[in-house]
Amino acid sequence: MDHAPLDKGGAPRQQTEDRDRTMTTAQGAPVADDQNSLKADMRGPVLLEDQVMREKIFHFDHERIPERVVHARGYGVHGHFELTEAIPELSCADIFQRVGEKTPTFTRFSTVAGNKGSFDLARDVRGFATKFYTQEGNWDLVGNNIPVFFIQDAMKFPDLVHSVKEAPDRGFPQAQSAHDNFWDFISLSPEAVHMTLWQMSDRAIPRSFRFMEGFGVHTFRLVNAEGASHFVKFHWKPRQGLQSVVWNEAVKINGADPDFHRRDMWEAIDAGDFPQWDLGIQVFDDAFADRFEFDILDATKLIPEEQVPVRRIGTLTLDANVDNFFAETEQVAFCTQNIVRGIDFTNDPLLQGRNFSYLDTQTKRLGGPNFTHIPINAPKCPVHHFQQDGHMAMRNLTGRG
Ligand code: HEM
Repeated sequence: MDHAPLDKGGAPRQQTEDRDRTMTTAQGAPVADDQNSLKADMRGPVLLEDQVMREKIFHFDHERIPERVVHARGYGVHGHFELTEAIPELSCADIFQRVGEKTPTFTRFSTVAGNKGSFDLARDVRGFATKFYTQEGNWDLVGNNIPVFFIQDAMKFPDLVHSVKEAPDRGFPQAQSAHDNFWDFISLSPEAVHMTLWQMSDRAIPRSFRFMEGFGVHTFRLVNAEGASHFVKFHWKPRQGLQSVVWNEAVKINGADPDFHRRDMWEAIDAGDFPQWDLGIQVFDDAFADRFEFDILDATKLIPEEQVPVRRIGTLTLDANVDNFFAETEQVAFCTQNIVRGIDFTNDPLLQGRNFSYLDTQTKRLGGPNFTHIPINAPKCPVHHFQQDGHMAMRNLTGRG
């Protein structure tokens, strides 16, 4: 058995001689002992001047950041998008120009209602958010596994979420969508019925994240180099197929393994069984929009695939687990306003409300305006602008500006 070398005082030395592997404080000063605080005598009191102990506890005290106000429970994975069909006639977005080109991505799957530590198999909508690190900036497709949404106007969103989250007095039910407050909201919001039927179906208890569809939900626009614009709905079609569990199974799984979905994803990727989705587009023009039975800006309605077929233009492959859950899955900030040249918004009022909401909440959740400096949020293309300063600025102007 190896015995730790003794220091000058005869106590076991806790550190290696190798400076590269020596434990230090956050200031880089080597630490002799990080298990015993400095005391005035054998049994105390602890000395306030023990900055090593204070720094360790101080940092621990500040480990938590606010969880997301919705979609708090999620699981992120790296991957890439490969274009299989170029669409320059529809969009000048750089990502859609060159067949075979791979664009790095980060995808986060989530439930909506439960808190960060809630169970995976809640009967709930699943978020399906993908950040494409394109050569012309980050494009975030922040979608769900259900093609429509509960409401048409962003102003109702806080009410919707309050109704589905736990009641303010008792703090429950947690991660349960079918309860009195929610039914209250739905009964007063006829536009919510369509999505509620999807949500109460087996779609809301998927077998795993790997067997889910994804939808951009809103109508967006594709714009080509000449400025001509078409409407578009985005779809993710899982190559694994679509599978759900039944409620009886969901309840048992939640008890036996609340991490069932994240474990499934981690293990599949760890085993090299990379899940794939095709990116599909439903494209239509003003003439179709004018004659369609519903308003194409209404996110509570879908465009039937029989009327506008889904055209598959590329494939997403999820092929790498994160190195650090907090740094990547927790700190990633998807935002509907992150679009790139060639992809544009429509007048959908729900989408426009989201464009305000995500940046606003992330400024608080991530502690200031510089969260694009965090590696998971940073573009992988050149970035040049005159923004400066603010909390935790990592990328700063040099010279006179
Ligand atoms: C007006 C309506 C909506 C508002 C105000 C809203 C607001 C929010 C907010 C504040 C977050 C937390 C973001 C963060 O802290 O990073 C969030 C997350 C999310 N929302 Fe919405 N949302 C709305 C509608 C929708 C719709 C229609 C969809 C799907 C198409 C959606 C999908 C998501 C997803 C997937 C996330 C999680 C993103 C992640 O994984 O980090 N939301 N939303």
